[in-house]
Amino acid sequence: MRVLIAGSGGREHALAWACTQGHPEVEVICAPGNGGTAALARNVAVAADDPVAVVRAARACQADLVVIGPDAALAAGVADACIAAGIAAFGPTAAAARIESSKWFAKMLMDTAAIPTARWRSAGAEDRDELLGFIDDLGGRCVVKADGLALGKGVIVCDDEATARAAVAACLDEGRFGSAGTRVLVEERLEGPEVSVLALTDGVNLRVLPPARDYKRAGDGDTGPNTGGMGAITPPPGVDDDFLRWVETDVLHPCIDALAEAGSPFSGCLYAGLMLTADGPRVLEFNARFGDPETQVVLPILDEDVLQLLLDSATGRLAPGRVAPGSRPAAAAVVLAAAGYPGAPQRGDVITGLDTTDPGVLAFHAGTRRDADGTVRTDGGRVLTLVARGYSLDEARRQAYAAVAGVHFDGMQYRTDIGIGKESTAAR
Ligand code: AMP
Ligand code: GLY
Repeated sequence: MRVLIAGSGGREHALAWACTQGHPEVEVICAPGNGGTAALARNVAVAADDPVAVVRAARACQADLVVIGPDAALAAGVADACIAAGIAAFGPTAAAARIESSKWFAKMLMDTAAIPTARWRSAGAEDRDELLGFIDDLGGRCVVKADGLALGKGVIVCDDEATARAAVAACLDEGRFGSAGTRVLVEERLEGPEVSVLALTDGVNLRVLPPARDYKRAGDGDTGPNTGGMGAITPPPGVDDDFLRWVETDVLHPCIDALAEAGSPFSGCLYAGLMLTADGPRVLEFNARFGDPETQVVLPILDEDVLQLLLDSATGRLAPGRVAPGSRPAAAAVVLAAAGYPGAPQRGDVITGLDTTDPGVLAFHAGTRRDADGTVRTDGGRVLTLVARGYSLDEARRQAYAAVAGVHFDGMQYRTDIGIGKESTAAR
């Protein structure tokens, strides 16, 4: 059995690791992978978001399954290309991935399917007055979003009308997010802790994974700029079984049913980003893929055969139910980022200490590369995710930070409050 994983982040390293657990016979190929996947898989120099190149690589290695990690690869049609070539693909078609790649499409679908979400308006340059009027109605407390994919940066949280108007102008007049920002959404600004609920689906059945929380801001106490994610925990305190059942029946199922009705059935990983507001939970966004770094905490706590679940999702054979956590149900992940991140990162610094990390701790690589002599160097913004599991979140967090203390590279930055910040303690 051969599995090709498209992508090069910590999420893809975690997927590669999970596919080999209990499956020593499985060969994993990463396109393009990173310095960590090189140790357990074969890396091939193929861009994850090039459908033709991914299919060629999958054919060359006779892959039985292609697992697609990044949003850009899904939006580019990598799943469509695999399916057209007769190769099983884990991940939605580009049409179904619009649930992530167009926020406007996602909001319309949420309204159609009665999925609770923030009130919103959407417009382009020609009808912007509608947006400006809505900003006034909200007293400036709103969130301005570029419609398309913008590397997680197309969301501007505003406190006042001047900031919101400037954000609209940045998208529509200054082209800050390129073509992703030619249509803009304005939403009411909600308050509350966030929860990520991921589910595997074959388009009909769903299997909800243990919930997680990620830490998006660069600095401790949720300060500083937004990032791709500086850490994650599972389970998020205050999230119970009733809540997960509600997400399954009132959010995830209506979403896949509405996508199927729209002629774009969704298979793969459907990720609901929710905010727990005083008026009840609201969906902030859907993603059409595994979250990063949520995947790095969710997959390691499972006792189930992840490869089988991915195959069942890709081939329409998924049984319904929950994917329950295993005997150690908690995990904490700390992302080690390069100097400069989330701006242009410093690259090429030697990483030390990885070989002496506690064997119970998982070190998932992202922006790393391995020299011919085995030296591992930084090669991107988010460099490593260190993940520890535990019977409690506290145990997992302490172990993760003990591992962080043993790893070094110049300019290394990380949050010191993963699992203890206000995000972790706020209840529903
Ligand atoms: P999105 O990519 O739409 O999930 O937005 C990224 C982040 O922006 C979310 O994780 C929230 O922290 C924040 N955000 C998005 N929408 C809202 C909203 N309506 N109210 C408050 N914060 C939001
Ligand atoms: N952790 C947020 C994301 O994957 O979009």
